[in-house]
Amino acid sequence: MQKFESFLLENLPTSKSIHPHYEEALQVMLQAGGKRFRPALLLGVVNSYNTLLEEGAMHAAYAIELLHTYSLIHDDLPAMDDSPLRRGNPTLHILFDEVTAVLVGDALNTYAFEVLSNAPFSDSVRVKLIRELATNGGLNGMVLGQAIDCHFENKPLKVEDIRILHTNKTAKLIAASLKMGAIIVGREELGKALYDFGIKLGLLFQIQDDILDVTQSTEEAGKLTNNDEDKNSFVTILGLEESMKQANSLVEELLAEMNSFDENLQSELSPLLTKYINRHRN
Ligand code: IPE
Ligand code: IPE
Ligand code: MG
Ligand code: MG
Ligand code: MG
Repeated sequence: MQKFESFLLENLPTSKSIHPHYEEALQVMLQAGGKRFRPALLLGVVNSYNTLLEEGAMHAAYAIELLHTYSLIHDDLPAMDDSPLRRGNPTLHILFDEVTAVLVGDALNTYAFEVLSNAPFSDSVRVKLIRELATNGGLNGMVLGQAIDCHFENKPLKVEDIRILHTNKTAKLIAASLKMGAIIVGREELGKALYDFGIKLGLLFQIQDDILDVTQSTEEAGKLTNNDEDKNSFVTILGLEESMKQANSLVEELLAEMNSFDENLQSELSPLLTKYINRHRN
């Protein structure tokens, strides 16, 4: 992911003005790192089919990371999860103030679509990518998930509703990352299969995140843990043991489904999955 990190550094949002810390605030959370899981998924799909498209695909990978980073900045606000630490760094509202965190989130959200609009693809591919990111990251995707997550604090939901919550909050953006890779390489049928695979992968990712909230220290996670008590997390609703079981069975399903993909796609995605699908067991 070295190339992705270089692309990100070369394309950081910039803004010169009389504002004393606006530009720094735009950049700090992007530069703080993170797993870059969503960009890696998109680039993995593209590289399986056409490495010549990798450079252009960086725009799309970066756009997803921008939208994801905005979602984290807002997620940490006092009105939402009220968290002082993210990616091992103080959160923006701690480093600066709440106004800055809200506005930087807004700026990264719109910058994501600006970056996509400049991607070196045909208009038709660009529009499809913009639609995919907006549909999954926006009002009937991540934002809806966050709205349900926050509205139902201290109001336990039914298991099927928790799945809806986490599918929107987390899984759709992960699924979109894979599908956007397929759009770039012109394989729309594969995109549909990858989207369904990505929804499962995203649910696993969120179950793991909920497990790690109770099993990892704040230092290990680089973000505040033990912070989900009021939430409809998998662990608060199902308990740790059942959450582990559900995570393990999703891992089995995902590994079995991987076998139906082309060999080149399997060999690109396998190392990535191996790196993450067992993280709840460590
Ligand atoms: C955290 O996402 C929020 C969830 C959707 C679980 P990541 O775990 O991908 O966070 P970073 O990007 O590595 O910081
Ligand atoms: C947030 O889920 C998912 C987003 C859309 C940002 P969490 O609230 O569980 O994420 P963390 O644990 O703070 O990273
Ligand atoms: Mg949250
Ligand atoms: Mg949170
Ligand atoms: Mg969490």
